[in-house]
Amino acid sequence: MKKYNIAIIPGDGIGKEVVPAALNVLHTVAEVHGGIQFETKEFPWSCDYYLEHGKMMDDDGLEILRNYHAIFLGAVGNPAIVPDHVSLWGLLIKIRREFEQSINIRPAKLFSGLPSPLANPKDFDLMVVRENSEGEYSEAGGRIHKGEDEVAIQNAVFTKKGTERAMRYAFDLAKTRKGHVTSATKSNGIVHSMPFWDEVFNEVKNDYPDIKTSVNHIDALAAFFISKPQTFDVIVASNLFGDILTDIGGAIMGSIGIAPAGNINTNGKYPSMFEPVHGSAPDIYGKGIANPIGQIWTAKMMLDHFGEVEMGERLLQVVEEVTAAGIKTPDIGGNATTVEVAEEICKRLKQ
Ligand code: NAD
Ligand code: IPM
Ligand code: MN
Repeated sequence: MKKYNIAIIPGDGIGKEVVPAALNVLHTVAEVHGGIQFETKEFPWSCDYYLEHGKMMDDDGLEILRNYHAIFLGAVGNPAIVPDHVSLWGLLIKIRREFEQSINIRPAKLFSGLPSPLANPKDFDLMVVRENSEGEYSEAGGRIHKGEDEVAIQNAVFTKKGTERAMRYAFDLAKTRKGHVTSATKSNGIVHSMPFWDEVFNEVKNDYPDIKTSVNHIDALAAFFISKPQTFDVIVASNLFGDILTDIGGAIMGSIGIAPAGNINTNGKYPSMFEPVHGSAPDIYGKGIANPIGQIWTAKMMLDHFGEVEMGERLLQVVEEVTAAGIKTPDIGGNATTVEVAEEICKRLKQ
């Protein structure tokens, strides 16, 4: 029996609804498989926790998390009670950075039974490799002056190491897929960082002669995600560009509530963290109607990470079946609850 220890952080808002639903599914996966077991421990770190303890996570939180095979997180953020920059830097970004989860992988594909907002969606299946530790999300910058003269400065930091790491990850991934990498750039407008990004891309691609490449400016690329998503395979993007592209990826599937993600530690020193693309959705929290598919598909990505690929494939197949059967939450045109969707998936997994 293989045992995986997983740290669970439901976090805020609908994270507290979709994480239990996905855990129900994950434990059913183990039961059906017979040869694996998930030992889970839940941590209450969240904005509510902050109000009580003055911090988003315990001081030794990272030390505790370090010992797990993976972290499974819902969403962080409740701006009504804690400013986002406090909650996110105190928990989500802290884990991504400290655990050197420098790559964020985020797939999008046409799902049967889902109302894609595209008029005639072709069969797309793409993967965004988002640089996850630097770029436009660097900590360099600050605010100077006061009053009318106040200035906010944000420096985008692109290291050769970080840029190359994201690109090599994308090329290696493309070898296992359709063999094509698109670079998301903006070298026509962003003077320092993006020409550098292009140079690194041109250097790295020489090591992958069998992989086809293309380059698009991010503004055009965002449009192409809507007009012809079927033309993409792997897209490598900086932190902010990748963030924006992957919400579009969710939207063209039918809802950002479906889109999954993995924050991958590539040096083997720390656990990776799996969390969907969407946030805590305060506008629907408490109604029991959050779409659990993003969190469940995220569980599938965690299974892939563990090497349990077959079980992950089976899970995604069942998710598609359930969706096609019309058992779906309101964001994708149904009237089922979060719990009902997860229960139906569990039921069919056992059949
Ligand atoms: P959001 O993703 O939470 O919500 C955007 C829209 O999508 C909302 O209308 C919401 O109802 C809908 N939506 C999202 N997930 C859904 C689901 N599973 N099912 C059905 N509908 C869903 O983005 P936001 O409103 O910009 O942010 C809300 C909070 O979440 C903020 O505090 C933000 O910083 C945080 N956030 C956290 C993460 C994360 O933890 N990874 C990601 C994005 C946003
Ligand atoms: C995401 C989120 C985060 C990001 C925020 C909440 C900091 O939007 O995971 O996509 O921008 O990385
Ligand atoms: Mn985002």
